[in-house]
Amino acid sequence: MAGDDKESPKDKSPVGGRGSPQPGAYPEHIPAIEASTSDDDGNYWSDSASDLTSLASSITNYVYENGRRYHSFRQGKYFLPNDEEEKDRLDLVHHIFTLILNGRYHLAPLRNPQNILDLGTGTGIWALDVADLYPSASVIGNDLSPIQPVFVAPNTQFVIEDFEEEWVYSENKFDFIHARTLSGSVKDWPQLLARAYKHLKPGGYVELHEAPIWCWSDDDSLEPDSPLVKYLSIIEQESSKQGRSLNICHKLKEWMEEAGFEDVQQKIYKVPWGPWPKDPHLKEIGRYQYVNAIESVDSYGLALLTRGAGYSEDEAKIFTAVVKNQLRNKSLHVYNLVYVIWGRKPQTG
Ligand SMILES: C[S@@+](CC[C@H](N)C(=O)[O-])C[C@H]1O[C@@H](n2cnc3c(N)ncnc32)[C@H](O)[C@@H]1O
Repeated sequence: MAGDDKESPKDKSPVGGRGSPQPGAYPEHIPAIEASTSDDDGNYWSDSASDLTSLASSITNYVYENGRRYHSFRQGKYFLPNDEEEKDRLDLVHHIFTLILNGRYHLAPLRNPQNILDLGTGTGIWALDVADLYPSASVIGNDLSPIQPVFVAPNTQFVIEDFEEEWVYSENKFDFIHARTLSGSVKDWPQLLARAYKHLKPGGYVELHEAPIWCWSDDDSLEPDSPLVKYLSIIEQESSKQGRSLNICHKLKEWMEEAGFEDVQQKIYKVPWGPWPKDPHLKEIGRYQYVNAIESVDSYGLALLTRGAGYSEDEAKIFTAVVKNQLRNKSLHVYNLVYVIWGRKPQTG
């Protein structure tokens, strides 16, 4: 029969080994894979290519507004930017929180945690530091934006996902779930805490580090009709309209207890916006918080002012410039509050 004397692909040994510079390294006895000559694999190539393209682009085709870059996965859900400027600000905030907590990354009394989840990890800086602190733990940080470093310690993993959707993790998995500065990002805190409860191991801890997006002065240097107060009121109103209030910290402890957590503890810190306090520790914190406060005005404000409050880009930028000028006034002695709240899932939960 024609072709009988043809060498079957099975009998062929790959010359030089596939992809190997060392011929002897290729296992000679493995039969070759014969390629199909028919079309029965359909649109396999084109389908997979388009899936990959759309997955990648849904995450990385960022949206640009007011000269800032915003996330594209679940577009519009989160109103702060995700550009380099914002990444620097988030890393600065990490430094400020670490100073507030005197070098600690959490206050819950963890013992040899093995699985840690950081919700809305941002640049991943907390997750990376915690992975360093607990080298035997596996730390996952999730976020809508892929703004985390690519080369990270082997016990850290970053994933792009929406923490407001059903979690893919198994129940009773985590020893510790942490979330920081998610005020304005969460529509339903009780639901988020219920999910944290479900996915924590009995005896595991949840810990929230949150700040109301508001400020106060103890010496009346903050005028109630000043641009800063007007700005804070408008952004609270706009975020609330979207069901994501920026000022929920005072309710978190109660929500945590209602979710079933026990031994819920809360600490509240005053964080000065400037180096005006006498106390050297607060003075140092204030120096950094001053920079953060000024940067935050655009980060928190631009999208809320232009998307919902009817400001044009120019009007919004003029308004935020006026607010930033007020913050630069040395006689303004304002501070904000930071809440650290943690609770344990009961052993019998
Ligand atoms: C203010 S940043 C805080 C980042 C980080 N937790 C920190 O403290 O450095 C809030 C982060 O939450 C993320 N985020 C907001 N809504 C989210 C959601 N539904 N699912 C996942 N991440 C979300 C944002 O993309 C952003 O990176």
